[in-house]
Amino acid sequence: MNENDISENRKFEHISVLPREVLDLLIVKTGPMKVIDGTVGYGGHSSLILKKNAEAVLLGIDRDGEALAAAEKVLSFAMDRIHLVKDSFSNLAACAAGLGWHSVDAILLDLGVSSPQIDNPLRGFSYRLDCPLDMRMDVQSRETASRILNTYPYEDLERIFREYGEIQKSRKLADEIVRRRSEKEWTHTAELADLCNSIPGIVRRGGPPAPSLCFQALRIEVNRELEELKKALEDSVKLLAPGGRIAVISFHSLEDRIVKQYFRMMASYCLCPPGLPICMCGHRQSFKLIAKKPVVATEDETRENRRAAPAKLRVAEKI
Ligand SMILES: C[S@@+](CC[C@H](N)C(=O)[O-])C[C@H]1O[C@@H](n2cnc3c(N)ncnc32)[C@H](O)[C@@H]1O
Repeated sequence: MNENDISENRKFEHISVLPREVLDLLIVKTGPMKVIDGTVGYGGHSSLILKKNAEAVLLGIDRDGEALAAAEKVLSFAMDRIHLVKDSFSNLAACAAGLGWHSVDAILLDLGVSSPQIDNPLRGFSYRLDCPLDMRMDVQSRETASRILNTYPYEDLERIFREYGEIQKSRKLADEIVRRRSEKEWTHTAELADLCNSIPGIVRRGGPPAPSLCFQALRIEVNRELEELKKALEDSVKLLAPGGRIAVISFHSLEDRIVKQYFRMMASYCLCPPGLPICMCGHRQSFKLIAKKPVVATEDETRENRRAAPAKLRVAEKI
């Protein structure tokens, strides 16, 4: 692995975050290894992995058919070492079993959406562009942001904005959405961004802009992102071989909290409440934490790639 490989990564439409850190902490084995990239996206991290270990074979999963087609081109230099599958990473164990893999040496999850997804006006992820309220990572799935806004009961909308967007005035926002849909269906992103901006004090001062939090909340619901992550973590712990590692890059506190708590739980040898004279829980320690604190981007990386600023990388090793 050399400087050229890392800088070549920057010519892709999507610049992979924390590339060096992912390689240093995840790909620690030499010789043959099985790797799952559960969010292969535009193939940036996968390409670096396959270059660092010339004997690695990689299963790349993504929900987005467009991303997979791009990854296939980027990874064509290692065609005989890759398997690309359109699926959700919550099915990573089944995807691996499909190849006859019953244990693997490394798993990567680089969560969220890629730059091409955000920048494509047809996908509806950006509140800065006026586009259809879609937000599906898999364009063949049923749920869309507009369907949620037009059909979910007030209580569910309010909970989504409060829990997934951490929006202070979630009741007011849900109320306005329900009121307006009785006059006209929600169809476009700009209308929703305008509504968010029109509610004073909707989010904390100094935090991210209101539309960004509202869109984050809807995107999480459309794509069931938190459920996906929990299931993938549970399957990963079973699938990793002893000494195998999992690396997860998250971009907001809800995801990071899930990863942090799950890794901590798996790195504990007992989950009994304090004070019990003997262990009753039957829990077994499965992970060793590779770093106690999350790894974050350097100032240099953040300067070159704004998306890297909120990224947090956590790594654990199966024992
Ligand atoms: C941040 S991008 C990954 C970029 C990639 N690491 C790279 O360097 O090119 C995230 C990708 O994960 C995919 N994705 C997000 N959640 C997913 C899930 N639950 N199952 C499968 N793919 C998912 C998205 O479609 C997107 O292509």
